[in-house]
Amino acid sequence: MTGVPQVHFAGAAFHSLRGQGVIVTGGAGGIGADIVRAFAEQGCRVGFVDRDAGAGAALAAGLEGVHFEPCDVTDVPALQAAIARLAEAAGGVDVLVNNVANDQRHRIEEVTPAYFDERIAVNLRPHFFATQAVLVSMRARGGGSIVNIGSGSWKNKARGLAVYATAKSAMLGFTRCLARELGPDRIRVNCVVPGWVMTERQLALWVDAEGEAEMDRNHCLPGRIVGRDIAHMVLFLAADTARMVTAQEFVVDAGWD
Ligand SMILES: NC(=O)c1ccc[n+]([C@@H]2O[C@H](COP(=O)([O-])OP(=O)(O)OC[C@H]3O[C@@H](n4cnc5c(N)ncnc54)[C@H](O)[C@@H]3O)[C@@H](O)[C@H]2O)c1
Repeated sequence: MTGVPQVHFAGAAFHSLRGQGVIVTGGAGGIGADIVRAFAEQGCRVGFVDRDAGAGAALAAGLEGVHFEPCDVTDVPALQAAIARLAEAAGGVDVLVNNVANDQRHRIEEVTPAYFDERIAVNLRPHFFATQAVLVSMRARGGGSIVNIGSGSWKNKARGLAVYATAKSAMLGFTRCLARELGPDRIRVNCVVPGWVMTERQLALWVDAEGEAEMDRNHCLPGRIVGRDIAHMVLFLAADTARMVTAQEFVVDAGWD
């Protein structure tokens, strides 16, 4: 496949999202950038963090009401400070999308304690501390929606991803326990589980002829999943349309088997 597939489909307008404050982690590229664009299109005030300063600045410059803070999410105090600035710029936080991750491959024999900690520091720890950082604002606004981005990799028993997949499977437990604890504050917490999404990184690193055949074999639906497919599920969960939906996982994988 050459380049990210250009898939066009009519989106929906989620009227309750207009003017809402939204924070996205890892929003400069891949699915995160589609999530940032999708919320901006709904008239939200969006703030996002990413370690890719160039891509982040370029994305924010092209969108109205969008602020970017360069930040490596493995640095928790920097992440907390960036979220505080973005929350102020947005006038408060109604929605948090815990999207950041890095799916670098690793062989079990080669994982050191330092490498293990590094993977957790990008694929799990920031989600907890980003959540902690928005709670005061969400409670003050009478509620909110937190969407954690999981992964089908651990369900599919993917190879070469043991530490990544362990962190991604934890998104489910994290989602369910937060939902119970934050429900009384009308803060809903859900998890979106993407299948194999055709981002620039996936296409550059992992999607070869064998991968294409694997998708053709395992998808119930023809075609490929793109970031916008994930972003639209996130919009639904962020909006009032999902006001009684919490503690759930929503799989967007073309019916992978
Ligand atoms: N693409 C897929 O096929 C797929 C499948 C299942 C789940 N997911 C999940 O979807 C989410 C987005 O994945 P993606 O494929 O868009 O990833 P991606 O690698 O294309 O984009 C990730 C973004 O996070 C940023 N980032 C990475 N490490 C960072 C750090 N330490 N600090 C700050 N920013 C950092 C990157 O710069 C990039 O902009 C992740 O949670 C991933 O686990 C993706």
